Amino acid sequence: MNLPPHIQNLPAYIPGETLPALAARLGLPPESIIKLDANENPFGTPPAVRRALAALDNPHLYPDPEYRELREALAGYTGVPAEWLIPGNGSDELLSLITQVMLQPGDSVIVCPPTFSMYAFYARLKNCHVIEVPRKDDFSLDVEGIVSAARASSAKMIFIDAPGNPTGLGLPAGCFDALSALPALIVLDEAYIEFSDSRSHITDVPGQENLAVIRTFSKWAGLAGFRIGYGAFPKWLGSALWTAKSPYNVTVPAATAAVAALSEVDFLLETVAALRVQRERLADELSHFTGLAVFPSETNFLLVRVTPEFGLSAVELYEGLKERGILVRLFAGLEAIRITVGKPEHTDALLKAIGMVSSKW
Ligand SMILES: Cc1ncc(COP(=O)(O)O)c(C=O)c1O
Repeated sequence: MNLPPHIQNLPAYIPGETLPALAARLGLPPESIIKLDANENPFGTPPAVRRALAALDNPHLYPDPEYRELREALAGYTGVPAEWLIPGNGSDELLSLITQVMLQPGDSVIVCPPTFSMYAFYARLKNCHVIEVPRKDDFSLDVEGIVSAARASSAKMIFIDAPGNPTGLGLPAGCFDALSALPALIVLDEAYIEFSDSRSHITDVPGQENLAVIRTFSKWAGLAGFRIGYGAFPKWLGSALWTAKSPYNVTVPAATAAVAALSEVDFLLETVAALRVQRERLADELSHFTGLAVFPSETNFLLVRVTPEFGLSAVELYEGLKERGILVRLFAGLEAIRITVGKPEHTDALLKAIGMVSSKW
């Protein structure tokens, strides 16, 4: 039996060393590893979620396939009526579903690297052309480039993360209007919007036929392990997604956790505020290291370019931190690392470790 060539040629995901494996190799207890590599909320799962899960009495039953309670809670949080909202098994699942229902083999989609890698991955899974419109040197979006590439290729979809991963940047002025005028579906990924002062576009969805906005509970709400995200979709697309998705795509514990988290938004936004304070402190302290260039960030992470003046490459810094029990994300092609903002004690440990790594070489 042969797989289609485009599937045979898909680059395999290469997972990094897991936290338990790293802890075992370093001879450290797993809880002492500082995990700053996946933009999770270091304050953990909110107390209301733990209480709701302890009281859960019906996980032997399938969930409501329409997730009415969750969608009503999301409507309260987002200001978008429930009929426009669909929950997903992480926002990843929604990205996958959108490509499933929207694309045919040979269609073109636009991505703007450096960006979240799953956009191109799901499009390639559908045997589509992935057109890259690279961001500018300062990592802002090349709006003119996107518009002309979209016109030239009759692109079906444009994936934009704003604030972006790993760039940390929001949309440049005028970008939203320029993209909205195109005859393509704009998939705006707002995974990090809670950490930003930029305006969310989720409430624009009911008035705009070519806009889908995707969100997640993984970053701000401390629920990454539950796999829960959601999106707001125009009706024509939403009805296709309801048809295409598995009936019970979100588990009972995940839906329960999300509803409980939304009952405790004030608490969660306090952790977001604390992380924003920590982000500014970390950016300031990192800028004192010769050779580390910190990009501005509207997210819960910092992208840090390692220049020759630092004396080490990004790979060497990444490896050196890992050997000291601190996991960050390496972007070797950008000669950069991405550091999730942690609690104050994580910042202290990270800064100390960077000092040690840089002086050892
Ligand atoms: C921009 C962006 N979109 C989507 C996701 C996926 O989030 P989820 O955990 O909801 O699948 C991530 C996770 O890293 C992300 O950075």
